[in-house]
Amino acid sequence: MRWSSGSWRSKPIEQMPIYTQPAALADVERQLAGFPPLIVAEEARNLKRALAEVAAGRAFLLQGGDCAESFVEHSADNIRDFFRVFLQMAVVLTFAAASPVVKVGRIGGQFAKPRSSPTESTGDGELPSYRGDIINDIELTAAAREPDPQRQLLAYRQSAATLNLIRAFAAGGFANLENAHRWMLGFVKNSPQSERYEKLADYITETLGFMRAIGLDPEHHPELRQTTFYTSHEALLLGYEQALTRIDSATGEYFGTSGHMLWVGDRTRQQDGAHVEFLRGLNNPIGLKCGPSLRPDGLLRLIDTLDPKNEPGRLTLICRFGADKVADALPYLVRAVTREGRNVVWSCDPMHGNTINAGGFKTRPFDRIVSEIRSFFAVHQAEGTYAGGIHLEMTGKDVTECMGGARAISEHDLRDRYHTYCDPRLNAEQAIEVAFVVAELLEAERLPREGRDRGASLRPAFAGVGARAARRLVPAPTRFPRDAPLA
Ligand code: PEP
Ligand code: CO
Repeated sequence: MRWSSGSWRSKPIEQMPIYTQPAALADVERQLAGFPPLIVAEEARNLKRALAEVAAGRAFLLQGGDCAESFVEHSADNIRDFFRVFLQMAVVLTFAAASPVVKVGRIGGQFAKPRSSPTESTGDGELPSYRGDIINDIELTAAAREPDPQRQLLAYRQSAATLNLIRAFAAGGFANLENAHRWMLGFVKNSPQSERYEKLADYITETLGFMRAIGLDPEHHPELRQTTFYTSHEALLLGYEQALTRIDSATGEYFGTSGHMLWVGDRTRQQDGAHVEFLRGLNNPIGLKCGPSLRPDGLLRLIDTLDPKNEPGRLTLICRFGADKVADALPYLVRAVTREGRNVVWSCDPMHGNTINAGGFKTRPFDRIVSEIRSFFAVHQAEGTYAGGIHLEMTGKDVTECMGGARAISEHDLRDRYHTYCDPRLNAEQAIEVAFVVAELLEAERLPREGRDRGASLRPAFAGVGARAARRLVPAPTRFPRDAPLA
């Protein structure tokens, strides 16, 4: 069937809000269609090329951000704090993998939320569920829960402003590796994570000093003072996404221009449904959430539809099974995809399969998150495939939404700073802790491949971790991964 940016409209659709003023909705979509794109085709192509490197095992994908961005939390401070934690995580992973880290935020458009129930109980009645700030308001009143098309204009403008600041941070010196020490947030200081990170930052500073001494300074090497950061979100609200679809005049190809990477959620990935139909026609890199209900044959059909040319970097499979299911379910998917010779990025979302209720709060135990990540890596190791990425819900703030971590946030602590608009996020410290867990797994994979044992790690920040704390610190660095700057 021929694809057009509106061909999804004749398909069955899940999770769609019902707008009661179609004329107002059409007017908003018409306005959006005339607005400037938020990203351009060449950037999306660059991301696809970067993800092709991940698919080939030569780079690692770090994707993360809010479950749901909100209008109220839109501030420079929030964006800056998120960005610096993200940079810290990227640097930790870059050193561990000794290869580039592809940085993709769940930001600048991550507004629309699928819900497990269309209604929410208010105690004495029921109201339509909150579906994200781009659709309705979180306040528990009938008026607030009415889908309002004007909110799409606000979401577009917020995305533009967010992206503007991030681009400035990425290119304007904030991401300079010489600032690695300054990325540490005040409240993370004096924690086990900050100590490990500080060691790594010292090491970077030392290395940069050495590089400067031999004539390689950041002034002349933009890759040391800049970074490339991409945006992504779930392509859920298809009217909005369609309105921001553009034809690339150079190639005649269609691109979604609301973000660099768009993904289809676990609840909307029906083979013949509207969301898959919409995404198949775009040329952006695409993500597909893979949950416990996905069978290998169903996955292969979806891959055929979403990536018929088997194009490297086109498709990222974001696996979110749950710590208790991943080891059983994932091998079958991996084997099917490998058998068919499909070129995909395998990424681990350890968040969405590990949500529990504790004392009335939706939360995620840190141990389960870590356990899913470990199982994900173990499966890929056993299958001979590459665990290429991690997908996290996280914030730069000191929230108390996920339990556990080095500061052992308890069920009782959850009420202190529980701010999320949807799912519980890792706070800054927990996010860095996860980065170190992944870093150890990446090192464990890489060092034997390079013919070295783990005691031979060049990176002091990893040499003193956990059971290896007693291990002797390694000798001075002999090489800097020159192909792995923050670029
Ligand atoms: C999400 O990423 O916020 C989400 C809703 O995920 P999933 O589709 O995997 O449930
Ligand atoms: Co979520």
